[in-house]
Amino acid sequence: MFRSAAAIIANRYPDRPGSRSVDTVSVSLMRLRYGRLLASSLPAQAVVRAISRTPSRAPASVRKPTAPAGEPTLVYWEMFAVFFFYTNRAPSPPMSSYVRRVSRKFGSGKVMRAVVQSGQAASKVSESIRVMDYENSAYRTEFWEKVDRRYEDVAERAALRALLPPQGFRLVDIGGGFGRLGAEYAGYRQVVFFDYSRTMLAQAVERWGHDPRFVFVNGDVYRPPFRPGAMDTVVMIRVIHHLERAELALERIAGMLRPGGSTILEFANKRNLKAVGRHLLGRQSWSPHAREPVEFAEMNFNFHPEWIRERMRRLDLGIDRAMGVSHFRLPLLKQLFPPQWLAGLDLVAGSLTVGREVAPSVFVHSRRQGNRAGTGEFGAAPADWLACPVCKTASAGLGVQGEDALACRACAAEYRCIDGIWDFKTGI
Ligand SMILES: C[S@@+](CC[C@H](N)C(=O)[O-])C[C@H]1O[C@@H](n2cnc3c(N)ncnc32)[C@H](O)[C@@H]1O
Repeated sequence: MFRSAAAIIANRYPDRPGSRSVDTVSVSLMRLRYGRLLASSLPAQAVVRAISRTPSRAPASVRKPTAPAGEPTLVYWEMFAVFFFYTNRAPSPPMSSYVRRVSRKFGSGKVMRAVVQSGQAASKVSESIRVMDYENSAYRTEFWEKVDRRYEDVAERAALRALLPPQGFRLVDIGGGFGRLGAEYAGYRQVVFFDYSRTMLAQAVERWGHDPRFVFVNGDVYRPPFRPGAMDTVVMIRVIHHLERAELALERIAGMLRPGGSTILEFANKRNLKAVGRHLLGRQSWSPHAREPVEFAEMNFNFHPEWIRERMRRLDLGIDRAMGVSHFRLPLLKQLFPPQWLAGLDLVAGSLTVGREVAPSVFVHSRRQGNRAGTGEFGAAPADWLACPVCKTASAGLGVQGEDALACRACAAEYRCIDGIWDFKTGI
């Protein structure tokens, strides 16, 4: 089996000088194994199947790969990717069990609620943007509780802690969902959970509603109801992979951030080990090395780190730190080791360049150019920093209409706070 895997790799790079024998590679692969389990398992069988389909033109030696500039070139790297692909088979609930997709008309204010049936292509009307709708979703229980994801949770918190400015006036967690990460924002005077799904926010209210520092706002990241520059820190984790117009969302984030403010963004890395392995084995049509985002499943996008870096740079959001996260999402490792151990290792691996290159998830910190003191000047009352997303005349501001209502001074649109959640979604 190890010989076969080595031969596959040999076949892929037949035209480069500098070689390593198939035997050497086989031995190295054997060193990578972790028990008989692997030899008798799907990986072994699949590699044998793959080699039997491959024309027998394997040279007697395995040569170093030709890789695009800037890509890791080690044969080991790709061998490991193949193994990683076959061993990284965490059971995951089908996304259709907790989300649906809707098309959201952008611009005119009318909402198209075309529910897309599972497996059916979403409508691509030019002026509409598809949205992954978590309304009434069982995301918390299905995704975080039914499957053991303590490791991913601990690892993400560790990365967030490493990158987040520890203190500030106002932080917004975009697509903050059920408020999973609320405990990480202890250094902020005001924390805004902003989400498209009201029911997700209702769960966040259950968790954090007792604490007056937290504010809950229902709306769309493409039309955020915040005054320009109103946020010291913007966090967006596990959200951009659902955004069809990621570039537009980044533009909106840049707009709400004060000069000198920070963004912590997490994105799904299309160049992760598993994707590289799948591509090598011909199991994946798209190249993990191509720069453009890929929609690998309906409304699920993976991004190339360079694409993110470039788009953020254009918005004056220069990335100054990046960390790879969730390298050890292997069911076997998760069974063998406590989540804290794996998360500790993750921090080390994720800080290394190669760790960042191949991680399934990448966290980046960027700072908006310029320097203005904190956002305290806006005041903490909702009318001080919320804005009308319909007419976008933030300068006119919102007037207080009563304890739980605001009205736009320019277009008179009304916004209410119902059961602790400001509704900036209805009517936009
Ligand atoms: C996978 S969940 C992540 C939740 C949270 N960030 C976490 O890590 O636990 C994605 C969240 O993004 C929200 N979302 C998706 N599209 C959005 C949009 N256009 N505007 C605002 N929120 C959106 C969903 O409602 C959902 O709560």
